[in-house]
Amino acid sequence: MRKEVELFDVLQETLDKLDGDGILLVAGDPPNPMTIGWGTIGYIWNRKIMTVMVRPVRHTFSLMESVKDFSVCVLPDHYKKQLNFCGTRSGRNINKLESCNLSVEKCIKVESFFIPESTIHIECRTVHKHYVDPSTLDPGIINRYYPKKDFHQVYYGEILGIYKKI
Ligand SMILES: Cc1cc2nc3c(=O)[nH]c(=O)nc-3n(C[C@H](O)[C@H](O)[C@H](O)COP(=O)(O)O)c2cc1C
Repeated sequence: MRKEVELFDVLQETLDKLDGDGILLVAGDPPNPMTIGWGTIGYIWNRKIMTVMVRPVRHTFSLMESVKDFSVCVLPDHYKKQLNFCGTRSGRNINKLESCNLSVEKCIKVESFFIPESTIHIECRTVHKHYVDPSTLDPGIINRYYPKKDFHQVYYGEILGIYKKI
């Protein structure tokens, strides 16, 4: 069972996991899970917004470019192995959900899917996107994170539903 909750009910756990083993960004139909470690949650344009960053080389990038909706799913602590798998293998060649024994259900507020094994899932609709712009980026960050110049696309997802397992 899941219940709809407020942003502050999930913020600590979501950010802790983002900064830890990662959380899953789920996009596409059929859906593909990709582990992410970078993102922000806050308020822009008087809306709740979650940003996620996807490098163009990822399979998830082509999925995110072809749909507007996505979910982010926070898995319990004992899903380390699955998070590592979804963060090192591409859904271009394999069905990561099947390989990790994870299931999916349709989102409630958006046209995407979420993983019911997650403790929290956040449903989003992209309202803006842009590439990280090297001309205005700190050179230290460019050297450290973009030796291949594969600058992320940043997706601004309006948060339309926040759900917690009960
Ligand atoms: C902990 C962790 C965090 C990651 N964070 C991101 C991220 O924020 N953005 C990104 O583009 N890739 C990130 N990756 C790499 C992708 O998850 C990885 O390349 C994945 O295999 C891509 O899957 P796909 O080709 O199915 O989209 C991360 C990987 C790990 C292990």
